[in-house]
Amino acid sequence: MEEKELIRAAMEARQRAYAPYSDFLVGAALLTESGKVYQGCNIENASYGATNCAERTAVFRAVIEGEIRFSAIAIVGGMRDKELTYAYPCGICRQVLREFCEPERMWVIVARSETDYKKRTLSELLPESFGPDFAG
Ligand code: THU
Repeated sequence: MEEKELIRAAMEARQRAYAPYSDFLVGAALLTESGKVYQGCNIENASYGATNCAERTAVFRAVIEGEIRFSAIAIVGGMRDKELTYAYPCGICRQVLREFCEPERMWVIVARSETDYKKRTLSELLPESFGPDFAG
């Protein structure tokens, strides 16, 4: 799976963002180790705190399908009808991704277009992290 394809899938997902309160539309495409792609968008709520980020929407869709090992995620975000920004994942989403990957080998791609993007490992975005090896 090429980065471009994953970014394209994130852009498609962003079209379904439900964000009438912030108008900040986010799409994500999560690549599993087995090569499948799960899309997610942000889903807001009139009770603002009940909002779910695009990244977690994608993770939860993958998990319910039995996929719990991830290798990359592409994220696109920006205000409605404005140009895309580099939409880095929030702290909660970084931690949720951490549960299901090897942080040094998990790529987080934040894209403004198919060719304009930044690529970081999850361990760069969430250093010295707490993971499943420590808990339970
Ligand atoms: N949002 C995401 O979908 N992902 C992030 O990592 C950061 C924020 C959404 C949540 C909310 O719907 C909107 O962006 C503004 O915070």
